[in-house]
Amino acid sequence: MTVALVGAGPGDPDLLTVRAARLLAEADVVVHDALVGDGVLAIVSPTAELIDVGKRPGRPIPQEMISALLVELGRQGRRVVRLKGGDPFVFGRGGEEALALQAAAVPFEVVPGITSSVAAPAAAGIPVTHRGMSAAFTVVTGHRRAGEHDVDWRSLAKVGGTIVVLMGVAQRASIAAELIAGGLDPATPVAAVHRATTEQQDVVRCELADLHATAIDSPAVIVIGPVAALNLTAILELSA
Ligand SMILES: C[S@@+](CC[C@H](N)C(=O)[O-])C[C@H]1O[C@@H](n2cnc3c(N)ncnc32)[C@H](O)[C@@H]1O
Repeated sequence: MTVALVGAGPGDPDLLTVRAARLLAEADVVVHDALVGDGVLAIVSPTAELIDVGKRPGRPIPQEMISALLVELGRQGRRVVRLKGGDPFVFGRGGEEALALQAAAVPFEVVPGITSSVAAPAAAGIPVTHRGMSAAFTVVTGHRRAGEHDVDWRSLAKVGGTIVVLMGVAQRASIAAELIAGGLDPATPVAAVHRATTEQQDVVRCELADLHATAIDSPAVIVIGPVAALNLTAILELSA
């Protein structure tokens, strides 16, 4: 296998899969995103070449360029790891890169990672499903293309269960307004988890009606539904 599309998990290097850690230690070149933290990159072989292709404000790297780079590196026969935050196939554009590699007949494999859509709620003590409270969860992007939401929020409001929003911080006001217009209770609990499983983790809780006015830093996962009121984190200090 020359190219591995690898999920780096939500941030904490302990949450890498065993296969991801092995491939990182053996890689000749690692092509990584901005969301992949230093702790994970520390596992990369010191002799490996590191290429940062993270898209940042003011530095939008076209996806076609990244796919073309992977094809080129793969053709060189080097052990290439394409490292992405969370899972490569959950809003990671891993499918597009796999298509490009397939079209170019470059051998590749996909190594799943723990997606932030479940890891971030878990890090805040929130189970995305919970008997009697939530029988389903929907993972959606809050990203808007050309002023239009990619998601029909009013219909989603009627589905029930937990709504997990990725890339939704900037659009949280209109997302909340659309969900309420679709029938969701304005008092529905909301939790936003910033940089889950890292030292910068921060959890903010509010009601849906107040989401627009609640300060949240990006990147964050926004959890909407009754389970967002839970806080099932471990009790580390027991009173004597
Ligand atoms: C392009 S998507 C990639 C998602 C990734 N493939 C996954 O499975 O988690 C980027 C978004 O994922 C979410 N995200 C990823 N890692 C996160 C983390 N550690 N804490 C909070 N949100 C995170 C944020 O919503 C961020 O804007």
